[in-house]
Amino acid sequence: MHRVIISGIGVEIPEASITNDELVESFNSWVDAENDKRVARGEEPLQRSDSGFIEHASGIKTRHVIEREGILDPKRMSPRIPARPDDALSIQAEFGVASARKALAMAGRRPGDIDMVICSSSHLQRPYPAIAVEMQQALGTKGAGFDMGLGCSSAAAALHVAVNLVRSGAQKKMLVTTPEIITGHLNFRDRQTHFIFGDASVSMVVEAAEDARPGRLEVLDTRLWTQMSSNIRTNLGYLTRSAQDDPYMIDLEGNLIRQVGNKVFKDVTVAGHRFIVDFLAEHGLTPEGIRRFWLHQANARMNAMILKLAFGHEVGHDRAPMVLDRLGNTAGAGAIVALSENHADMKAGDYGLLCAFGAGYSIGGALLRMT
Ligand code: COA
Repeated sequence: MHRVIISGIGVEIPEASITNDELVESFNSWVDAENDKRVARGEEPLQRSDSGFIEHASGIKTRHVIEREGILDPKRMSPRIPARPDDALSIQAEFGVASARKALAMAGRRPGDIDMVICSSSHLQRPYPAIAVEMQQALGTKGAGFDMGLGCSSAAAALHVAVNLVRSGAQKKMLVTTPEIITGHLNFRDRQTHFIFGDASVSMVVEAAEDARPGRLEVLDTRLWTQMSSNIRTNLGYLTRSAQDDPYMIDLEGNLIRQVGNKVFKDVTVAGHRFIVDFLAEHGLTPEGIRRFWLHQANARMNAMILKLAFGHEVGHDRAPMVLDRLGNTAGAGAIVALSENHADMKAGDYGLLCAFGAGYSIGGALLRMT
């Protein structure tokens, strides 16, 4: 069995960003126009959105997005991402490659050193050919690639797979990539969810620790937990058209991301803190013994509550850094962005816990130690 390290982490954040005020202005002008029609039809008016609510309820102030103008156009309210020819690099592979190159540079590895790519994302652009295989070709990595996904736990789930493949010796050097273009699937006309998500791509190089050089993130263990829930759900899939009267005109109503936010908040807060306490206990550790927590970046209040339940008291952002205020919920990418930005100051022997949670329900964790 090999010791395993994360030797490189790469993050790619799109340049364009949208503030709460900008998003709410677009949403409310669509609501106002819609309500004129509804009132004329004698229907209940839709409720307006509110920046103050968004920041208070979620902690999100801005989000970065692949394409901003289409989202903010009240006549469209969806990013405009033109189709590309089959022989051009697809946008999700391109986004993955951008963070992968940074991860490889940090690891000091060439693409030819990598013997497997896993692309794990809450949303995949298509079922096949796998995005990972397209990335394999674009980067020039060896061996094989495949796609997988587990909602917002996608990166943590892929890390679980990669770490165990490397630990067993089945693979030597793996690239785990999570390019999240989640705005493409978001219903920007839904008051409950229109403010939640942002786009980001992250990649990690996972390899056997050939030496005990200081300043490396060793992965001591990984864990996954799932339990069926439809409280975060999308029904858009390859059978969507078969369920419709006209299978050549897809009706998106009810088929984009839906979330019962307050239910998810409660359920995942309870399951998340239990997961953390139990996983650490298996290693003879308690939350107090962990220098840093890189938690899923969905909701600032939720993370604070998970930590309060785990610790028995409140802990600050130095212990559990937050990136969601400027990036929004970037699905599987969020916890890895927090990890990337907040590990360089850790001392040899310091423990850190990566913990992502979301749709499924799913929770994925990795116990790390700085060498
Ligand atoms: N603008 C203004 N008011 C809004 C609103 C908006 N955009 N969206 C909802 N509201 C209102 C609701 O109508 C409700 O009003 P009422 O009390 O008059 O009925 C009130 O705000 C509270 O709604 P609720 O849905 O209970 O809000 P919340 O405090 O739970 O916050 C989330 C909503 C989505 C921010 C929060 O539930 C959350 O982040 N949940 C966890 C999400 C998560 O972790 N997902 C997993 C990973 S993807």
